[in-house]
Amino acid sequence: MSPTLDAVVHDAAEVFVGPNDDGTGPETVEDGAVAIADGRVVAVGPTDAVTREHPPENAVAAVDASGGTVLPGFVDSHTHALFAGDRSDEFAAKLRGATYADILAEGGGILRTVRAVREASDEALLRGLLDRLDTVLATGTTTLEVKSGYGLDTETELRMLAVLAAADARHPVDVVPTFMGAHAVPESDETDAYVEAVVTEQLPAVAEQGVAEFCDVFCEEGVFSVAQSRRILEAGVEHGLVPKVHAEELTHQGGAALAAELGAVSADHLLHATREDARVLAETDVTAVLLPGTAFSLGAEYADPARFREAGATVAVASDFNPNCYAPSMPFAVTLACVGMGMAPDEAVLAATNGGASALDRADRGTLREGALGDCVVLAAPSHVHVPYRFGDTPVAAVLKEGVVVRD
Ligand code: NIG
Ligand code: FE
Repeated sequence: MSPTLDAVVHDAAEVFVGPNDDGTGPETVEDGAVAIADGRVVAVGPTDAVTREHPPENAVAAVDASGGTVLPGFVDSHTHALFAGDRSDEFAAKLRGATYADILAEGGGILRTVRAVREASDEALLRGLLDRLDTVLATGTTTLEVKSGYGLDTETELRMLAVLAAADARHPVDVVPTFMGAHAVPESDETDAYVEAVVTEQLPAVAEQGVAEFCDVFCEEGVFSVAQSRRILEAGVEHGLVPKVHAEELTHQGGAALAAELGAVSADHLLHATREDARVLAETDVTAVLLPGTAFSLGAEYADPARFREAGATVAVASDFNPNCYAPSMPFAVTLACVGMGMAPDEAVLAATNGGASALDRADRGTLREGALGDCVVLAAPSHVHVPYRFGDTPVAAVLKEGVVVRD
């Protein structure tokens, strides 16, 4: 069967293809086009050349991107987007000076969302997540990692992961599931006993159902120590789950070094990471996932991208969309990466696309090179600089998922 020409996006002022060959910046094409067949990019380059070989009139969808920009779909590699309840009052409390740790210690924060998730029906959880997937798609996210971790018992963790699978099957956004039973210690438990429950009960059940790809832990003072995190992540590896680590978020604990030691796919947050941490992450090929929305919402100091850039580490920017950081928009994360963390627009857009793909071990996306998935965002604006520039008003004209226009 000859391939179906799904879409030709043509006459864009700029196509932001992805990293250039030597990884020193982006490759962009002026007056460019992208052709997608059978869900994959089959040609990218100047409009004349692409449309000569792949005439838009032969495509299921011809997308006129005149004056606009075409980018790879955003790959949001760190979220806790499956939740229930309302924690807006904690936002107000933080503005009055309460810290994240104060709120957590008083049974608020994560533990409050745990109570709400345990009480919510599967249907309500799914409805909430599908609404949020619509929201993220509207600002160009085509792949969204989502963590469990608001169940903290086997039954609810499995329910969360089942909801992620159901949402993935029903919605065009790809949902990548991460098991995070080690997100907090439930009120009723003592930490070591809970670690054992994660290792001996939760992990085997999750692995048996094959419902998660990654295993994440919150390695933080007062939550899980490095030793406890190691125990959980090593058990995860035995069950075929690839490690991720919430590392050096509120304090420096050694989670980044642990991520390197265990061959994690990413170390995330890293607000308090040192130069040495950046060096070992680079050396072991662990992607550094920076989450400027979290620092913004906590009023904390941002992670320092220069540290990771100088060390030669792969950097991703993600949203950390969760009830404590109600920030679903990747373009807004890119704005914060630029304005708050000092990244250049091209660097931040690469981190939000290609970097995100690295943090999820998905070499098939985050770029518009031939062979990549036909996931792209068309902006009604002339360059990628408009992603961070126009914060609060992302001019998304269309989103394509595997060559299908899923939003316009
Ligand atoms: O990545 N650090 C831990 N987890 C989340 C917060 C989740 C929550 O507050 O509900 C984070 O910031
Ligand atoms: Fe997180």
